Amino acid sequence: MLPTDVPALWLRDNCTCADCRDPLTGQKLYQITDLPEQLAVGTARPLEGGASANGWEVVWAPDGHVSRYTAQWLERAADPDPRTEDAKDLWGSAASLADGLPETTWSAYLADDAERLRMLEAVARLGFCLLRGVPVRDGQSQQVARTFGFVRETNYGTQFEVRVEERPNNLAFTNVAITPHTDNPYRDPVPTLQLLHCLVNDAEGGDSGLVDGFAAAAALRESDVEAFAALTGTQVPFAFRDDVTELSAHSPLIATDPAGRIREVRFNNRSLGTLRLPAAQTEAFYAGYRAFARLLLDPERQLTFKLGPGDCLVFDNTRLLHARTAFARGGARHLQGCYADLDGLLSTVAVLRRKEAQPC
Ligand code: OGA
Ligand code: ZN
Ligand code: ZN
Repeated sequence: MLPTDVPALWLRDNCTCADCRDPLTGQKLYQITDLPEQLAVGTARPLEGGASANGWEVVWAPDGHVSRYTAQWLERAADPDPRTEDAKDLWGSAASLADGLPETTWSAYLADDAERLRMLEAVARLGFCLLRGVPVRDGQSQQVARTFGFVRETNYGTQFEVRVEERPNNLAFTNVAITPHTDNPYRDPVPTLQLLHCLVNDAEGGDSGLVDGFAAAAALRESDVEAFAALTGTQVPFAFRDDVTELSAHSPLIATDPAGRIREVRFNNRSLGTLRLPAAQTEAFYAGYRAFARLLLDPERQLTFKLGPGDCLVFDNTRLLHARTAFARGGARHLQGCYADLDGLLSTVAVLRRKEAQPC
């Protein structure tokens, strides 16, 4: 028997016949409003040549349309949203990264699909990976981005130079310490991936840090429900300006999906703008902001390491915060970076998995 609790409209909207979907692209050929209002399963019988366990053929009332469904398709579990905490391995501290850093060499990454998949899956699940031995040449962070997706151009260019500038428009381009933050929270949409490629790092200091913002947000939800609610429930303005740019975007510090799962974290003390909200709401926000900052800035939560020439860090800018310690002003330190997006990376993961499932 066809399960009786299957909603008729859902079942019909998943018909794969050539009238409903273009056979070449698999895309739907109708609008939901084209389906009969009084749609119902007219008859359902086991698919030809097998027991009902293999599927059903449904003839619909009132229009007599015929659809076929396999039992395997009907029983498939929900596809989880790859962006929420449920699809992640949270790490609350460096010590909880049991298998060490997700890293490989650039040559292994290029030569071996399985190795490339392992690194990109690490970005999806842990929030980052580290590629070693990426050539110490101009433009390589973009080359890395192009192996799994597309570079996102911004007012900083297709790539940006992280080094001490004469007239910096961002504290990143000085020698001061940069505390844990996500990049460009003043952009809408925010870049979901960031790459940093180290060309030189001879300066005293200039060590890197990463913090799992999802793990910290989950800890806040455990320890201080009110603070968590104030942060998920308050849109805050972020802003950036220089001579030729004036950007602003509104977002909560912790964004959740409709089921309450953590989906995005934005945190940047340098570019938080001015909230203009009723006093009680403002106070609740600031209490939450302080509580969240305490967690995020706790050194125990930070993974620290030093990037050396050829190292390229790829990380999820909607989840991980990154930081660097101050470095001696005269010292040589130069990183190049670019932005890219998670949708492209997740697409590459899916295609590599497809290939892995069907080796040629
Ligand atoms: C940045 C940044 C970190 C570093 O450029 O966004 O945070 O290691 N840089 O210099
Ligand atoms: Zn159909
Ligand atoms: Zn940054």
